[in-house]
Amino acid sequence: MSSSLVTVAYIGAIILFILSLGGLSHPETSRRGNLYGIIGMTIAVLATVAGPLVTAKGYAWIVGAMVVGGAVGLYAARTVKMTQMPELVALMHSLVGLAAALVGFATFIDPVVSGSLAGAEKVIHEIEIYLGILIGLVTFSGSIIAFGKLSGKIGGKPLLLPARHWLNLAGLLVVLYFGARFIQADSIGAGMTPLVVMSVIALLFGIHMVMAIGGADMPVVVSMLNSYSGWAAAATGFMLSNDLLIVTGALVGSSGAILSYIMCRAMNRNFISVIAGGFGGGAPAPAAAAGAAAQPQGEATPVSAVETAELLRDAKNVIIVPGYGMAVAQAQHTVQEITRHLREKGVNVRFGIHPVAGRMPGHMNVLLAEAKVPYDIVLEMDELNEDFPDTDVAMVIGANDIVNPAAQDDPASPIAGMPVLEVWKAKTSIVMKRSMASGYAGVDNPLFYKENNRMLFGDAKKMLDEVLGALKG
Ligand code: TAP
Repeated sequence: MSSSLVTVAYIGAIILFILSLGGLSHPETSRRGNLYGIIGMTIAVLATVAGPLVTAKGYAWIVGAMVVGGAVGLYAARTVKMTQMPELVALMHSLVGLAAALVGFATFIDPVVSGSLAGAEKVIHEIEIYLGILIGLVTFSGSIIAFGKLSGKIGGKPLLLPARHWLNLAGLLVVLYFGARFIQADSIGAGMTPLVVMSVIALLFGIHMVMAIGGADMPVVVSMLNSYSGWAAAATGFMLSNDLLIVTGALVGSSGAILSYIMCRAMNRNFISVIAGGFGGGAPAPAAAAGAAAQPQGEATPVSAVETAELLRDAKNVIIVPGYGMAVAQAQHTVQEITRHLREKGVNVRFGIHPVAGRMPGHMNVLLAEAKVPYDIVLEMDELNEDFPDTDVAMVIGANDIVNPAAQDDPASPIAGMPVLEVWKAKTSIVMKRSMASGYAGVDNPLFYKENNRMLFGDAKKMLDEVLGALKG
């Protein structure tokens, strides 16, 4: 394939990637968006392999790598549980980072590339290599730690080293100093030392940055590392002079940055402090200085599935708030059946979706779409939070942090300031979960003890099956 044909194929792939991103922004068009992405990537890979840069000798390697990579990806996609998705995504981000760093080292030691450049061109090429390896290794080690935290292999508590911001600043200065030495180096051997020193600092910085982030703030980290992996890919594109990789990396990098910003807003966190790391669990809120977060008082009132069905049957307006527990119990299909049944009886049922419900962006939307819940009754938190006072029953299914009133009432709470769904303002709220245990953020929930709240204890799928049975019976 000639290089001009490859360029045309790349432009086609870029258009498809942009359409894909556009499609993924809404559940109704997300399948189409996914398809555009798959077609775009297939075109991109085929055009690259058939392009002038790949010689016949390289085909065996490429096919071998594609078979191994494809088999691992297929196995992971088929076996991973929906609730483990964020961990898988974190691992994949780490691979993008590692690939960028390896390409950087390979490009640097390649005598053909290094020997053919001089003057400003050489300096620019070396800056690309230096930045590519830097971003790649921060993404790599940060994503590995994120994987550990999300899978529970590493504790969620933030690691706050003394003078951590000074440590980061010192690291940055050392990286800049060795960057200058790297560019001044006149041979591959002389350039290797600064490159290796910077690599070690980049790895430590990635570890430090994510270790310093508290468990409750992990959603922001996941999307932030997504953004970093995009910039790492763009850096690889610069190193390889591959326009497609530059554009694709920039698309992933900027959409990840926008998502991080949305997540920060959803959790009332500061975007800049996330980028700088050391965030979540850092400075205590004003009242925290005086004492620990308040312990909820009172007794929780249990309710049975039959009583829940009665409350739902008598209601005119119902808001369902799903959370991580619905995903664990795989209860979305029963939720859909209950919704259909109630709507047939004239009950106005809507869903309230918190931006960080579950364990990954859009987690609840994906599950509800899979169960074929109509999109028009699935609303964002901001769209219906004011409607709770006019709601007869707010049914919380396996959610906890996202409906915790302490976020509003208790400045000492670790989730203070995070916007939440105000289910306690409904006439009756029903929380469906197995125990009084706390959620991801490890914070007690005063909602459980409110007078108008009922607790339906048990596995969400089992309890909802019973509720559905009682509704139909
Ligand atoms: P959580 O606050 O984690 O609460 C989920 C609740 O589900 C738990 O309290 C648990 O209580 C219950 N549960 C677990 N298995 C269940 C089952 N089989 N049946 C019924 N209930 C079950 O979840 P949330 O309210 O969705 O909030 C999300 C949290 O995750 C936030 O803190 C958020 O910051 C964090 N997070 C989000 C993301 C993204 S991007 N969405 C990423 C990482 C972290 P029991 O054990 O008593 O059943």
